Amino acid sequence: MGSANKGSSGDAIRVILSVLVLVVLSVWLLAKLFTSGMVVDAEVMSKEAIAARLKPVGVSVANEGGAPGSRTGEAVYKAICSSCHAAGLAGSPKFADAGAWAGRISQGFDSLVKHAVEGIRGMPAKGGATDLTNEEVARAVAFMANAGGAKFAEPKVEGAAGGDAKVDPAKGKEIYNTVCQACHATGAAGAPKFGDKAAWAPRIGKGLDDLVASATKGLNAMPPKGGYSGSDAEFRSAVEYMVNASK
Ligand code: HEC
Ligand code: HEC
Repeated sequence: MGSANKGSSGDAIRVILSVLVLVVLSVWLLAKLFTSGMVVDAEVMSKEAIAARLKPVGVSVANEGGAPGSRTGEAVYKAICSSCHAAGLAGSPKFADAGAWAGRISQGFDSLVKHAVEGIRGMPAKGGATDLTNEEVARAVAFMANAGGAKFAEPKVEGAAGGDAKVDPAKGKEIYNTVCQACHATGAAGAPKFGDKAAWAPRIGKGLDDLVASATKGLNAMPPKGGYSGSDAEFRSAVEYMVNASK
């Protein structure tokens, strides 16, 4: 009896012990699995989150030099204005939504800029970024309105750290000689010929800003920026060079 009791209580202890060992083991294994899984997740998340957060703002502003006053409309839009206007938050006219912008654009550029600088109803002054210069806001307004169907000329970036702000007048000539003359020297494909006053007069009549805007966008056989890949300011200097030679 005694030995049988001893035997069965020994069995019970062994069973309890092995259950305990199993429980401890599986808890340890589960803990291992979870922590390693979470470490991986956290790594992926932080990489993705960092990429998502830093790319649009960091890259675009850095590309433009980023110095206050020198940021382009696109850089300002991406860094600041897109937080509401990309999705049309709080009743803001949504980016590239021509229907939402048409009525606003009809107020004219100056009035839009004034409202964006001073704020209007749900639109905070300067989109809440008070360190923006009025020029930068104007550039962002041009960039946004143009995406919504307007044809405003974005105010030029002056004194940019990037270096293309003060464009050497010789630059326009150089760009013409290397890029634009391919069509404009002979008037190929209906291009207004360099120095041909009659061909240029009606175009010049539109005003320099409009000329630059349409040539930047491209017009019929005129490719966007004439295929030139440099900055807008440099491209403008090439238009100025051509216009001045054809007045
Ligand atoms: C916090 C959200 C928010 C941010 C950020 C923001 N906007 Fe707006 N914006 C609005 C709203 C809302 C309206 C519509 C206001 C109304 O007409 O009631 C608006 C309207 C506008 C208009 C049209 C004004 C008019 O006269 O019809 C312009 C232009 C504009 N925003 C430019 C900008 C620019 C440029 C930036 C970045 C520098 C910017 N917004 C950032 C919310 C925002
Ligand atoms: C592949 C040929 C081609 C090249 C290269 C080219 N253009 Fe043109 N460009 C044209 C044609 C064609 C037109 C006339 C478009 C029309 O009115 O239908 C034109 C028109 C223009 C106009 C007048 C736009 C207007 O609104 O009337 C300007 C300004 C201009 N080009 C500037 C330039 C500059 C600056 C360059 C060089 C950076 C350049 N183009 C390179 C073909 C070219």
